[in-house]
Amino acid sequence: MIPIIIAVDGYSSTGKSTIAKSLAKVLGYTYIDTGAMYRAVSLHALRQGYLMGSDINVESLIADLKSIEISFFLATDSNSVVCLNEEPVESEIRGMEVSNCVSRISAIPQVRAFLVAQQQMMGVKKGLVMDGRDIGSVVFPKAELKLFMTASEEIRARRRYDELLAKGDDVDFDSVRSNIAERDYRDTHREIAPLIQTDDAIVLDNSNLSPQEQLDWVLKKVNQITSNL
Ligand code: DC
Repeated sequence: MIPIIIAVDGYSSTGKSTIAKSLAKVLGYTYIDTGAMYRAVSLHALRQGYLMGSDINVESLIADLKSIEISFFLATDSNSVVCLNEEPVESEIRGMEVSNCVSRISAIPQVRAFLVAQQQMMGVKKGLVMDGRDIGSVVFPKAELKLFMTASEEIRARRRYDELLAKGDDVDFDSVRSNIAERDYRDTHREIAPLIQTDDAIVLDNSNLSPQEQLDWVLKKVNQITSNL
């Protein structure tokens, strides 16, 4: 089968990474979670003190981008783990502190240019499933398959809330829901690379679909596409 690029975009907590990971596993493709890359840069900014309340020291962050090295490795449970300068930071980047500032960090043009260049390099050999917000629109506008994931806000907040509780985080449902609503707004309204559904994307509303049903549905599309190449 000729390898392709699969771009998975959509709102927060729509299960993009779940479908992207299982697709990569079944197809033997590389999986890249670009949200984790923006989260890692946000963690770096927090640690370096570039965020003071609602202000970001954008100049210092931009000057410091070259000192940030982001990499991934596959853990024994076959989950991908993001590293910031070789330190595994998967659990730190999922906490509320990072979640509350990542939309603002990802709206900085220089941060996007820095990460988009790295993401494009990862697709040179194809055989890639990448999830994010601008994968089908900016990173790989010629991706052979583009998925746009959506689900109701209530269901997405419930999923995220359960995920954080399972991790032992002390959170309340309303703040998780408002964080999701705020990120949706910022992601779709920012000036650069806003989350959009491109004309050639296939919409997958998974409010009422199991992960297996979604996977079967997408694999059919992959087979149709690759058999025509
Ligand atoms: O997928 P996620 O929720 O982990 O993404 C975290 C944030 O990063 C989200 O608010 C949007 C931003 N993001 C982005 O702007 N572009 C991407 N390609 C991926 C994520």
